[in-house]
Amino acid sequence: MQIYVDSANLKEIQHAASMGFISGVTTNPSLLAKEDPTTNIRELILSIHKSVGGHTSVEVISTDTDGMLREADEILAWFPEATIKIPFIPAGLAAVRKLSDQDIPTNVTLLFTANQALIAANAGATYVSLFLGRLDDIGTDSMQAVHDTCEIWDTQGLESFIIAASIRTPIHLLECAKAGAHIATVPYKVLMQSMKHPLTDAGLETFLKDAQKVTM
Ligand code: G3P
Repeated sequence: MQIYVDSANLKEIQHAASMGFISGVTTNPSLLAKEDPTTNIRELILSIHKSVGGHTSVEVISTDTDGMLREADEILAWFPEATIKIPFIPAGLAAVRKLSDQDIPTNVTLLFTANQALIAANAGATYVSLFLGRLDDIGTDSMQAVHDTCEIWDTQGLESFIIAASIRTPIHLLECAKAGAHIATVPYKVLMQSMKHPLTDAGLETFLKDAQKVTM
């Protein structure tokens, strides 16, 4: 399972990318809105992409098909490597079909069920983003949706990549990898939490102390 960073914060993304295990970045309007309001968003997204080099999703904000397609054209004019992120609404699916027919990569977002993911895949989505945390927030078992989706993908041999999104805890990351999601897009904080282990820290401290006692 590949790991993406779910963030629009350049410092976080650069630090995560510097460790060598990040394959992409997903952004959305809410993540971009958390950044300094004076930020030039296009420059920020291009810097994000330069830092990581792999997948970078950029979300459209129109709610009609023509508007989404117009935005996709605009985004691709200044960022040809962009994956166009589109919400799971009927107008969005029509846009995904049109973009897919032109071999433009798409990431369908705001999916909460395996049926939605299946429909997005049939519209031609390159990536389907299944949200976990927001399901847990309303008392629904998010992992069931991930297991259902992965099972359908295995049974049907579907080609769209399953992105586990709205990841809130290291347990989400672990369980999505076990279930067979292709990608997890993870907030920086959860990435750091997932790397941390007290025995790693204590072990290093001991090695460094003992290293003082030997000559190489
Ligand atoms: O990738 C989607 C993600 O950003 C949503 O996360 O925590 O707002 O549900 P969250």
